[in-house]
Amino acid sequence: MSGFEDILAEVVSSYISENLFGKFSLNKFKTLPTPEARFDYLNTSALPYMGSGAAKDVFAVSSGKVLKMSRYGNGGDEVQSQLKREIERSLKFGNSGIVPRLYDYDKNEFSWMLVEPIKQFDSPGDDDNMKAITGVSVAMLGNFDVMLTEWILEAEKAKSAEEIIRYVALLKDAVWMAPRAKKLLEAYHNNPKAKELLEKYFTMAIRHGVSDIDRADHWGMDADGSIKVLDFGM
Ligand SMILES: Nc1ncnc2c1ncn2[C@@H]1O[C@H](COP(=O)(O)OP(=O)(O)O)[C@@H](O)[C@H]1O
Ligand SMILES: [Mg+2]
Repeated sequence: MSGFEDILAEVVSSYISENLFGKFSLNKFKTLPTPEARFDYLNTSALPYMGSGAAKDVFAVSSGKVLKMSRYGNGGDEVQSQLKREIERSLKFGNSGIVPRLYDYDKNEFSWMLVEPIKQFDSPGDDDNMKAITGVSVAMLGNFDVMLTEWILEAEKAKSAEEIIRYVALLKDAVWMAPRAKKLLEAYHNNPKAKELLEKYFTMAIRHGVSDIDRADHWGMDADGSIKVLDFGM
């Protein structure tokens, strides 16, 4: 690097830490009196914005953690109870390796949680990087979800995702779904990441009754490459 580039790199990194993160204090955030005040403080901060849906706004915090905050100002109780549900489930699933690690959360009003960052798989319509990584496409994940609903009684008796996929693959009268199940089974046996994704999906959906996780962008990978579900508050 030239001397100029060194100086530039230094300026940029001090800019990032002081201006993006420095104006936000997690301690101040935590001690604000109401969820509304915390929401306003967060939204006037310059924290890097990670995304949002109907129920949550998500920001990166300087420690490399991700702050998920319930949306206030619109939505009301149902929207706010989603984050509470996500916190309760995070506590329950703890170290199962299926959900992002939970570092801290709002113990009084359940308005925020601090979690491990996850590299999300692409949204439907974008490049299918889930397929590139796991061998399971968005369409295949959708088929798996349909399978679990259509053969829910068998799925509940099954010991694994593999068992229910195999069951459907061998059905004589499921002409529409059996070939799709065979394709899933092939991915399952060819790619350990397919197996990981489908077994984790099965655990969440069948063992814990967590629904609405059938979009690719509900899933992603942590820094160690472990597959995790990132939106499970519904
Ligand atoms: N652990 C995480 N790491 C990185 N980005 C995340 C994480 N959790 C959520 N996000 C981002 O924030 C967006 C909104 O979070 P999500 O939990 O889906 O909220 P909502 O319930 O409002 O849809 C996600 O689509 C994703 O882009
Ligand atoms: Mg979402």
